[in-house]
Amino acid sequence: MPKQKSRPQPKTQPAPTGPRYLCEAEVVTGLKDYATAELLSRFGSSVHPQDKAKPEEIPFYFDGSLSDLGDLTKTAAVYLVQHYPIPRPQALLGHQHFTQLIKLINTVRSMHPAGTFRTFRIAAAGSQSSVFQRIKDEIASTTGLTVNEDEADLMLRVRKADIYRDGWEVLLRLTPRPLAARAWRVCNMEGALNATIASAMIEMTDPRPDDRVFNLMCGSGTLLVERLRRAPADVIGGCDSDAIALRCATDNLVAAGYGKAVDLFEMDIADLPLPDACIDMICADLPWGQLVGSHESNLTLYPKALREAARIAAPGARAVFITHEIRLMERVLRDYADLWTVQQEVKVFQGGLHPRIYLLSKQAT
Ligand SMILES: C[S@@+](CC[C@H](N)C(=O)[O-])C[C@H]1O[C@@H](n2cnc3c(N)ncnc32)[C@H](O)[C@@H]1O
Repeated sequence: MPKQKSRPQPKTQPAPTGPRYLCEAEVVTGLKDYATAELLSRFGSSVHPQDKAKPEEIPFYFDGSLSDLGDLTKTAAVYLVQHYPIPRPQALLGHQHFTQLIKLINTVRSMHPAGTFRTFRIAAAGSQSSVFQRIKDEIASTTGLTVNEDEADLMLRVRKADIYRDGWEVLLRLTPRPLAARAWRVCNMEGALNATIASAMIEMTDPRPDDRVFNLMCGSGTLLVERLRRAPADVIGGCDSDAIALRCATDNLVAAGYGKAVDLFEMDIADLPLPDACIDMICADLPWGQLVGSHESNLTLYPKALREAARIAAPGARAVFITHEIRLMERVLRDYADLWTVQQEVKVFQGGLHPRIYLLSKQAT
């Protein structure tokens, strides 16, 4: 039995007409609320999130079609979970459990065109042990998939029961790549923003179809694409001083189907060809001073960006920024407290970094 006390009561749920799956969403730490909200707004009563203390995991029961989970925008990956009442992973090799495991693998493979999955890997404590080697050999010989420890199409995780009280759980990623690896990203740029983080930033701005949107320092266009995926805009533009980044943004926007929707300017943020007070929503992934820009140049760039953003912001405009330069950003926000009010701050943890998202509103003048 799952551990959670909050397991939905049968009387509050209509009985599912099809199969009910146990799934787990893996989320960027800090974005769990946004990922949960998206699950609920997309799938309504077909999804039943379960409590879990870990900030990067949302277990949930799902009564819908598993393929529909593949285009969630604020979730890093979704796994199908199978519980095994076994004392140790070795027991997965027993006939009954192994048959169940292969069925699980086939469920995921059948969601995608033939040939999508050629390799697999197992993430588990002790995954290099002789027991796991035997499990891998058995899976390989039964499925025809080969092991690739670096970047596999089929990702299995094996862990001590975490949703259930005891036993072990096998989690199988529903997609050959994490969901942040968007199909529209045909051009990769060093320092590009994780698309699930971009999507959550956009959500924070409460997107409206009549928004006039501008993305300062748009780089490869992640925020622009994610904004348009979420909602149309009245007008939408972006700028970057780097022509190569803008070509990358153009390629990505075209791949996403928004080639004609966005006006891109090769400009320094200090020379924006925009009149005062003409934008309702401004977004930017500021240079973090690591892969892009330097801490020294950021000292002048950040105040310039916040001032220019305030100039083009219409009364009541919203702005969302992300940066890893926390101290600098907070100092600049204090200095410009007459221009911007901080509405919300979200701490994100990703890949060993702790960037922070700031939702601002333009002060009435
Ligand atoms: C962190 S990157 C943005 C990455 C982008 N979010 C993406 O996903 O690809 C910051 C961008 O700021 C641009 N930039 C730096 N200084 C600038 C300036 N003064 N004016 C305009 N763009 C600038 C850089 O060229 C870089 O593309």
